[in-house]
Amino acid sequence: MKILVTGGGGYVGSSLIPKLLTCGHEVTVLDLFLYGSDVLDKHPHLKCIAGDIRDEAILKKSLEAVDAVIHLACISNDPSFELNPTLGKEVNFDAFEPLVKLSKSAGVKRFIYASSSSVYGVKSERNVVETSELEPLTDYSKYKALCEKVLSTYQSKDFTTVTIRPATVCGYSRRQRLDVVVNILTNHAYHNRKIKIFGGDQLRPNIHIEDMTNLYVLLLDIEESKIAGKIFNAGGENLKVSEIAEIVKQKLGPNIELERTPTDDIRSYHICSEKLSRELGFTPSRGVLDAVSDLEKAFKEGLLPNALNDSKYFNVKLMNEVNLR
Ligand SMILES: NC(=O)c1ccc[n+]([C@@H]2O[C@H](COP(=O)([O-])OP(=O)(O)OC[C@H]3O[C@@H](n4cnc5c(N)ncnc54)[C@H](O)[C@@H]3O)[C@@H](O)[C@H]2O)c1
Repeated sequence: MKILVTGGGGYVGSSLIPKLLTCGHEVTVLDLFLYGSDVLDKHPHLKCIAGDIRDEAILKKSLEAVDAVIHLACISNDPSFELNPTLGKEVNFDAFEPLVKLSKSAGVKRFIYASSSSVYGVKSERNVVETSELEPLTDYSKYKALCEKVLSTYQSKDFTTVTIRPATVCGYSRRQRLDVVVNILTNHAYHNRKIKIFGGDQLRPNIHIEDMTNLYVLLLDIEESKIAGKIFNAGGENLKVSEIAEIVKQKLGPNIELERTPTDDIRSYHICSEKLSRELGFTPSRGVLDAVSDLEKAFKEGLLPNALNDSKYFNVKLMNEVNLR
């Protein structure tokens, strides 16, 4: 298949692209490469287009002869969205429908959308399923939810659409994020021998990056009737932030100090991903402990230099520096 991955130079994308190439797909990546252009190795079946998804001419060029789109490009967390809400809306919402429309008219057969489990907001129920009410707390999450609605109107026999609501991704990737919960705690534990836990009782769903990317690979091949017009949660372990810290400590050493401080970040949710295993046969095979081990190995091998300070690991810092308009 020929696949367009928007945002293929990001945290998830830079782990996904090598897998797609190994599977024998031809891949086009459309990305601004905000976090560096050295995150994907050259490959005869990989074409990288450095461009903006808001540019329809570039979209058209990127969509030539494409069979499937995996849409990852995004201002991808709350603080970087809030730095410039106009930009955030343009990239995360305004550019979405043109991309879907152009994909459909270009003959794309399948469109896979990375939404987020943050669309649920704060929930007291134990098992948040796909039919649970969406109560997004931030504009980042609100526009993720609105894009889901837009996408659902384009579902048709010849254009299969599917929405994934991933938990927070964790683990090592070529383009590393160290601003997501498991990765933050591991980074601090490894380099400072100390973890500051803000709150601690909030529940966070997690998914290992290997599982995340394996799921996108599966979605390209799975029969249409199983996914058409559907929405799937994608999470592995649901853990309290304090439990994640304990796992990090267990892996990195008993001398790591855990310090709890109060927080006003009340996001707390627990997602149920049974639909994914029941209907698609997909069950995550890795956990938070694996992610911590992988990151520890990457730190030891010097793959993530200046991990506490280099802006490229922290979306909000980098977005602040590049001042994208
Ligand atoms: N990482 C997570 O924990 C997580 C959880 C749930 C959902 N998601 C979603 O998965 C997707 C991928 O997340 P990620 O962690 O890889 O994010 P990321 O920030 O690492 O990657 C996003 C990529 O999009 C690119 N990009 C941003 N604006 C662009 C534009 N206007 N035109 C072209 N490219 C642009 C960036 O350069 C970057 O490479 C996002 O849509 C995100 O919302 C991620």
